[in-house]
Amino acid sequence: MPTPVSDLSSSISASRFVRACLRQPVDRTPVWFLRQAGRYMREYMEVRRHHSLIEICKRPDLAAEVTITAAEKLDVDAAIIFADLLLPLECMGLDFEFQAGEGPVIHRPLRDAASIEALSTNRASELAYVGEAIQKVVAHFKDRIGIIGFCGAPFTLASYMIEGGGSRNYIETKKLMYRQPGAWRKLLDKLVVVLREFAAQQVAAGADVLQIFDSWAGALSVPDYREFVLPATRTLVREVQAVGVPVIYFGVDTASLLPSMRETGADVLGLDWRTPLDRAWRDLDYACAAQGNLDPITLFADPELIRARVHHILDQAGGRPGHIFNLGHGIVPGTPVENVQAVVQFVREYGPPLAEARRG
Ligand code: CP3
Repeated sequence: MPTPVSDLSSSISASRFVRACLRQPVDRTPVWFLRQAGRYMREYMEVRRHHSLIEICKRPDLAAEVTITAAEKLDVDAAIIFADLLLPLECMGLDFEFQAGEGPVIHRPLRDAASIEALSTNRASELAYVGEAIQKVVAHFKDRIGIIGFCGAPFTLASYMIEGGGSRNYIETKKLMYRQPGAWRKLLDKLVVVLREFAAQQVAAGADVLQIFDSWAGALSVPDYREFVLPATRTLVREVQAVGVPVIYFGVDTASLLPSMRETGADVLGLDWRTPLDRAWRDLDYACAAQGNLDPITLFADPELIRARVHHILDQAGGRPGHIFNLGHGIVPGTPVENVQAVVQFVREYGPPLAEARRG
């Protein structure tokens, strides 16, 4: 039996962020941002002028630099390592590239059982560059802020492998899921083998928390999620927890899926911005921590409106232990960086979670 994560809290960096992931009381609500290092930030674009996205991911010095620069510029409580969801595809035998304006393109998408059979699962060591970048970030921040490693969830990665890129209706993915359930399960099982090792490498390198991105889980009905996705995802969550870190599990458009996502056993659920945080968390019986969930496009508003929305979310969280302030999806290009910095101040000025007083 793995030791429950909550018993390990004293042996991992006792940052505000990690404590909140474990639903322990904190002096104030921790805050960080999905896609905090990205194209909205001048310093990132400066690095991007000289290097491709993949180059930045694969060079630990560059990946660490953009991770550190973003976290320092925003003065947040956690840094997510700069990498990409799709990196593990390569070591499984699927080549891909990022085409300008098109997003990711996988050259030979999976469409049949034979190509799933051919995927490698024993080459996760090729992803060691992510761990090396994490080591550099940890060496820089020490225990000052939480360090987040991440990977994709089995469904979201499978959807990229099958569709060959982004998708609107996930027809090829669902066709494989419905018509070749054996091959589908094999694919998810193979992904879990690779992702578990990739996550373990990141933890060994010093990641305090691991976030699993199931960005496109909202494309699934509740019965399909439960039958075809939950079992493999639960296995991955448990196996990451077994290496000794809390797990954040995030998806978009997940209001109806949250109770099932909770069954993965994740320590924290990341809520998308459409989901009212108060109701969602109550419906989960406060049985896990909650991360979120400002609409990222609010960051284009005037500061006073942004402040009102930030405080509204903090009101909804009601000072309960286990709220991590974040957006409900990633920062988009064009976002004014000073508005992101302002959010950090608005979270801080709200003050310590006075749970009883605010809950009334
Ligand atoms: O601070 C950070 O969060 C940056 C690290 C990070 C990146 N990708 C770098 C990146 C993280 C956490 C990701 C995760 C990721 N990658 C997700 C899950 C998060 C989510 O948004 O739900 C997904 C779906 C991907 C796959 C992916 N990568 C897509 C669909 C795209 C193209 C879309 C776009 O914004 O252009 C990427 C490219 C990408 N990955 C960028 C960054 C900063 C932007 C492109 C660039 O710099 O050229």
